[in-house]
Amino acid sequence: MNMPHLKKENGSGASTPETGRTLVRANENALTLTRKEIDARRIIHHGMEDEGPADAFRDLRTQLLARAGSRTISVLVTPVARGRGGSFVAINLAAALAFDERQAVVLIDCNLRHPCLHQRLGVAPAPGLTDYLSGRTDSLEAITHATSVPRLFLIPRGARPRPEASSLPPTGCSG
Ligand SMILES: Nc1ncnc2c1ncn2[C@@H]1O[C@H](COP(=O)(O)OP(=O)(O)O)[C@@H](O)[C@H]1O
Ligand SMILES: [Mg+2]
Repeated sequence: MNMPHLKKENGSGASTPETGRTLVRANENALTLTRKEIDARRIIHHGMEDEGPADAFRDLRTQLLARAGSRTISVLVTPVARGRGGSFVAINLAAALAFDERQAVVLIDCNLRHPCLHQRLGVAPAPGLTDYLSGRTDSLEAITHATSVPRLFLIPRGARPRPEASSLPPTGCSG
């Protein structure tokens, strides 16, 4: 996940102070999740009944930011095994980083076998990472989707390769 400092963010996009280049554009197809749906997906937010998980991810965020200083940070989250909370940690750490109104957070789903982040965050599965890597698009704007979490953007896994070109088994979420 990447955390560029924002020059402006008005709901329609965000740009870097260095270049003014637009990084993201709100995806009009993004689903809007209700508070209840966000709770059901175990995504932290302000005003939760049980503040324990939000506090834990805030602590982790604070430690990471202390290490980063003024630099933009990238964090790789990987679980020890499937179903052990990789997506849970990635989304909630990203959400905790996005609590800061001066930051934008870009979460990238690099799990090509079992991509889940788009489902949890309620955005389209594509275009995304595979479309960019395969050259189907060279637009970062096209693959970077706004989510229901303010200041949190997702680059989903992207389109699956054609079946004959893929040796990967069918994909799916673990939870
Ligand atoms: N620390 C946790 N507390 C509560 N639920 C969790 C926790 N870690 C994972 N889960 C739940 O367990 C299920 C599997 O977690 P997930 O993040 O999808 O695993 P992975 O990405 O490693 O396959 C999900 O429903 C998730 O919400
Ligand atoms: Mg996962």
